[in-house]
Amino acid sequence: MLLTDETKSVAEADAMAARGATINEVFAFLRTRLSLDAFGLLMISLPRADFPALSKLLPRMASDETQRNFTGNCGKVLLGQTVSFVRALAYNYAALRNRSLSGARIMDYGCGYGRISRMLYYYTDPEAIWAVDPWDLAVSLCREAGMVGNIAQSDYLPTSLPAPEAAFDVMFAFSVFTHTSRNATNAALSALRRHIAPNGLLVITIRPPEYWVVNPEYAPQADAFKAKHDADGFAFAPHGRDTVEGEATYGDTSMTLDFLAQNYPDWRIEGTDWALADPYQRYVFLTPA
Ligand SMILES: C[S@@+](CC[C@H](N)C(=O)[O-])C[C@H]1O[C@@H](n2cnc3c(N)ncnc32)[C@H](O)[C@@H]1O
Repeated sequence: MLLTDETKSVAEADAMAARGATINEVFAFLRTRLSLDAFGLLMISLPRADFPALSKLLPRMASDETQRNFTGNCGKVLLGQTVSFVRALAYNYAALRNRSLSGARIMDYGCGYGRISRMLYYYTDPEAIWAVDPWDLAVSLCREAGMVGNIAQSDYLPTSLPAPEAAFDVMFAFSVFTHTSRNATNAALSALRRHIAPNGLLVITIRPPEYWVVNPEYAPQADAFKAKHDADGFAFAPHGRDTVEGEATYGDTSMTLDFLAQNYPDWRIEGTDWALADPYQRYVFLTPA
């Protein structure tokens, strides 16, 4: 919950918005007054009657049902996971690149309803943010919520993305390569490579083999999936939706770091991380080789 001082700051931002401040001016002010977590609490609470001007200017949060459908969680519990990832992103970018995320050009690939993109406003102005997803529903949810920045629909098996090439300081795909088929993984990693800046950082999440055991849906076949993971470095269970020319591109996926290193030589693994809030999403930091 927001402390009294933070609520006062949000009220000031609301007054600024009522006087006609731009969204960038409001974000700049909020960045100086709120922690990342407080900013997140505000973003997930919108629209709200006590801040009417801010509620007109800033994106509305997705419904709990939409949040659950995309991520399995909602509300503050999900915000805890989101913030853990965003803090790891900011920390590792600073550690590996000696730069902060402030002002960085960032792509959220497979953005869903814009869960993580909403948190990026804490660091960089909307013009520098690209939220991209192949699912028309995801893109519509972002647009209908009033998300600002660049929102675009990509292909399920992309050769390139609707964004500038060689341009992104940071690209990330959270809970995307935990779902893509081998072909969709190949296509996406090669498309992302075209858009990363020479000194950029790509962050993806992958699932460890334990995932097949902890997901009760797969527990009966866990040994088979783990054996596939160990033998090939990659295991995939299609969901049967999102078929492209008859091929299922979406399901549940686990992969190893060795698989990434051996199959995608135009990317180099620079580091890994994970957070207790969501231990089956392992973060992998990749640099263009
Ligand atoms: C589990 S959701 C995660 C959404 C978002 N990244 C988040 O963490 O809230 C997976 C997202 O990946 C998108 N997706 C599905 N197939 C994809 C593909 N081939 N390339 C990129 N994204 C894909 C889905 O449309 C969906 O929005």
